[in-house]
Amino acid sequence: MKETTATLLDIRLLAQGYQVLTFDAPEIASQAQPGQFVHVQVPTLEPSRLRRPFSIYDADPVSGKLYVLYKVVGFGTQRLSTLPTGTSMQILGPIGKPFPLNPSGTPYLVGGGYGVAPLWFLATRLPRKGVLFVGGRTAADILETERFKTLGWEVRVATQDGSLGVSGLVTAPLDEALAENPSAELYACGPDGMLKAVGERAIQHGIKGWLSLDKHMVCGIGACLACVQKIRKEGTGDERLARVCVDGPVFESREIVW
Ligand SMILES: Cc1cc2nc3c(=O)[nH]c(=O)nc-3n(C[C@H](O)[C@H](O)[C@H](O)COP(=O)(O)OP(=O)(O)OC[C@H]3O[C@@H](n4cnc5c(N)ncnc54)[C@H](O)[C@@H]3O)c2cc1C
Ligand code: FES
Repeated sequence: MKETTATLLDIRLLAQGYQVLTFDAPEIASQAQPGQFVHVQVPTLEPSRLRRPFSIYDADPVSGKLYVLYKVVGFGTQRLSTLPTGTSMQILGPIGKPFPLNPSGTPYLVGGGYGVAPLWFLATRLPRKGVLFVGGRTAADILETERFKTLGWEVRVATQDGSLGVSGLVTAPLDEALAENPSAELYACGPDGMLKAVGERAIQHGIKGWLSLDKHMVCGIGACLACVQKIRKEGTGDERLARVCVDGPVFESREIVW
């Protein structure tokens, strides 16, 4: 983990409410692994000066470029959207335990909204292609599906209002696929309800399910305990509190005590 001064090279509107930032951050880009995140100090943010955590959406160790995909939800993300290119900012990273990259079956990635960010980075680094299951409230929350297809991934979409793909939750197409081919390994990032549902399916089918948790964070370096999650040790069943920032954000389904 490094603290670095990164330069904002580009801000791109991806879809309504979603942006992609490109930074020049070679020290982080050279070490980044899928599932890790960066902690960004948003400049001139008086109401709350805490850093904001964002998954690494992509990283190019050759060019030194680091990419973050985010949704505008409050002060920090609004401020990020207004910054001019060339702005320097402090970024800490890469932080946390990444996704493992050795699936024992077909990789099934499950995400929605900005949860697709670490899954894209993961899709570019996994040794085999699989299926992206992407869900959201409406079509506007379904991001980057063409990019996954171009990379050779199958994409199955579900929206709650039926505006794109099948109508309902992302677990519907996931269940269909698991019924056809239960020899899969699951990787998910999104809201707790979705993670819990994906984790239950991993346990039910006796396969691994890697879940990236999204907790409110303060320090991002394991010191403040703002981000704790109850987990159980596999084998013994002993329960303890883990810090999502440094012990996660990725946990195996069986570890998490919901
Ligand atoms: C490991 C990790 C990875 C993340 N990756 C991404 C990402 O790739 N893209 C992205 O858009 N967001 C990501 N988030 C969430 C992101 O950190 C928050 O959306 C952001 O900090 C909000 O900042 P803000 O100042 O705009 O919002 P605030 O003004 O602080 O809050 C606005 C609203 O957002 C909610 N919020 C704040 N922090 C979080 C959080 N951690 N999770 C969920 N809701 C939150 C608040 O409760 C409030 O309702 C990630 C969070 C974690 C912990
Ligand atoms: S955010 Fe401080 S310990 Fe995780």
